[in-house]
Amino acid sequence: LREHEEFTKVKNIATIELGRYEIETWYFSPFPPEYNDSLKLYFCEFCLNFMKRKEQLQRHMRKCDLKHPPGDEIYRSGTLSMFEVDGKKNKVYGQNLCYLAKLFLDHKTLYYDVDLFLFYILCECDDRGCHMVGYFSKEKHSEESYNLACILTLPPYQRKGYGKFLIAFSYELSKKEGKVGTPERPLSDLGLLSYRGYWTRVLLDILKKHKGNISIKELSDMTAIKAEDILNTLQSLELIQYRKGQHVICADPKVLDRHLKAAGRGGLEVDVSKLIWTPYK
Ligand code: ACO
Ligand code: ZN
Repeated sequence: LREHEEFTKVKNIATIELGRYEIETWYFSPFPPEYNDSLKLYFCEFCLNFMKRKEQLQRHMRKCDLKHPPGDEIYRSGTLSMFEVDGKKNKVYGQNLCYLAKLFLDHKTLYYDVDLFLFYILCECDDRGCHMVGYFSKEKHSEESYNLACILTLPPYQRKGYGKFLIAFSYELSKKEGKVGTPERPLSDLGLLSYRGYWTRVLLDILKKHKGNISIKELSDMTAIKAEDILNTLQSLELIQYRKGQHVICADPKVLDRHLKAAGRGGLEVDVSKLIWTPYK
């Protein structure tokens, strides 16, 4: 019985209200103790402050003057916008986002100092404002060449290509920095599926167009994908042979076509000409 009690204590908040959506949560998140007796929390979709009662949210919405995430809009294409939020300048927002994200992230500890992170918030914009669909976080300085710490698409928006857009965006930032990047480990099952899909499509597209030999190093320079991730992806597609102590890419056009078909839809593209950004200093 004790164990059961402990277990039921594990998932505290069962649902959240955020913008137009009521969303069932997936995992435990360490909200401050005064929120732990609530089954449902009400989030302001713009500043991400959370409340225990609907009336509190309604009162808040009359006062809150944000209509998009705090920070700089660094990308806009059609109705899609991306905002960069500095965790040091917007500490409360960063913390709120971490509490929210942990509800859908299992084995991630998100409570390092938010000061050390930048948050990239993807929004769908309309006349009511810019509505968050997902985000990723990124360390300002990573020793391990991580270009993404945590990634989330909010459940109502999943399986529409936003995840792959966020991943593509993280690599576009790495290209602008002139660095290779890789996501922080461990990856969740859904995270691995999304990355595998992204890496596969990007690499197959290049191999398909490229004439003649190409090395893993060259692929890495073109894509900002870390060499190890390229090698693993190509190995799992059985496009690598080991000859005379060297990994060689064997890209038979028929095999490439078969893989490309299986890789499914490309998804939302990042239009680099619409990214206005300089690396963090
Ligand atoms: N079942 C099967 N395959 C899936 C599923 C699913 N439920 N969700 C995603 N995929 C795969 C598919 O291959 C899909 O491509 P396809 O639709 O072309 O077949 C691909 O992943 C990506 O799909 P997207 O629509 O681009 O991704 P989405 O917007 O759903 O976001 C994400 C993916 C961010 C991983 C989302 O599932 C999520 O937020 N999950 C919860 C949080 C999480 O696990 N984050 C990753 C942790 S690891 C880290 O942060 C470094
Ligand atoms: Zn607000």
